[in-house]
Amino acid sequence: MMQKSTIALITQSLEYFAAHHGDPYARAYQALYAHDAAYEALFVLDSDEGLRRNMMRTTLEIIATYLDDPDAAANRIIGARMSHIPYGIETDFDVFFEITRTVISAGCSDIWTPDHHAAWTQMLTDFKAARLA
Ligand code: HEM
Repeated sequence: MMQKSTIALITQSLEYFAAHHGDPYARAYQALYAHDAAYEALFVLDSDEGLRRNMMRTTLEIIATYLDDPDAAANRIIGARMSHIPYGIETDFDVFFEITRTVISAGCSDIWTPDHHAAWTQMLTDFKAARLA
């Protein structure tokens, strides 16, 4: 059972980030390529960045879904995990959610507390567990 405070803390951080920095897209992909430089080449055909923007949007949508309905979010993650297997992204799938937290937390440094970190950790742990057995 998800605590109300978890929902409130994650929501607050997303709203604060959006109000002060807008879209996390550019920072998130910078961090993804810093994590593994080979990842940039995977998007070579994505010349208008549409796929990458969709991937960022989907990531944020899954988080929003989780705050309302964790089981529905888990189902979306299971599907997205599978669609990444052809790209060779399996164990690193969860990295993009981690990166999203890192980017949001950096942009929220004025309000970020250990409780925000703990709320995100609970969510990311649930996301990691969302897989076919
Ligand atoms: C939070 C976890 C992730 C989510 C929710 C996610 C979501 C998505 C979605 C929805 C698409 C399809 C975009 C479209 O068809 O318009 C996509 C494509 C893609 N994602 Fe992710 N993704 C995640 C993690 C990752 C990671 C860690 C990588 C590592 C590089 C990655 C690499 C790719 C690639 C290569 C494509 C396809 C691009 C192409 O076909 O040119 N994804 N992702």
